[in-house]
Amino acid sequence: MRWLAAPALILATGAAAMTPALGDPDTNPALQSAARARQNWILTCQGCHRADATGTPQTTPTMAGFVAKFLQVPGGREYLARVPGVATAALPDAELAEVLNWSLVRFDPANIPAGFQPYTAAEVGRLRQTPLRTEAAVLRASLVARFNADQHK
Ligand code: HEC
Repeated sequence: MRWLAAPALILATGAAAMTPALGDPDTNPALQSAARARQNWILTCQGCHRADATGTPQTTPTMAGFVAKFLQVPGGREYLARVPGVATAALPDAELAEVLNWSLVRFDPANIPAGFQPYTAAEVGRLRQTPLRTEAAVLRASLVARFNADQHK
């Protein structure tokens, strides 16, 4: 879990919106577990989300250039860990936190808010105990409406 501290530091310094500061998570030495995260993405997530996280219209929303916006609104952080594909993934808490953090940095670094603290295994372990079910779509729509409204202020 040592690698989690490094992106947090980078983000805390205010460079959050700058993609180049984070670099490529596959080669960034700070992301020591990037290889495992990437492997878990391939095995557990990309079947629905696609390798580049662009998703599939009508079934799976795009995460690319979008997913970190949820972190900008109240309740969004919890939503990302409780969404069914995440909460019910066949991965231990530490690897789930890792792949979720990796996917945010990999697919949407520009929208990660300043001061973002990476998910920990304990946090993900707690949140995934109450996976979203039928209410996922309604909650998602309200969060999207919230960050869209914030952007147009
Ligand atoms: C069975 C298909 C499927 C799998 C497997 C899956 N997801 Fe998803 N994911 C979805 C769908 C569909 C949504 C949209 C919310 C919903 O209705 O569940 C979603 C939403 C999300 C979201 C919230 C973003 C948004 O726009 O709502 C994140 C983050 C996410 N998935 C990450 C992952 C990760 C990480 C994995 C692997 C551990 C994964 N997903 C596995 C289908 C999947």
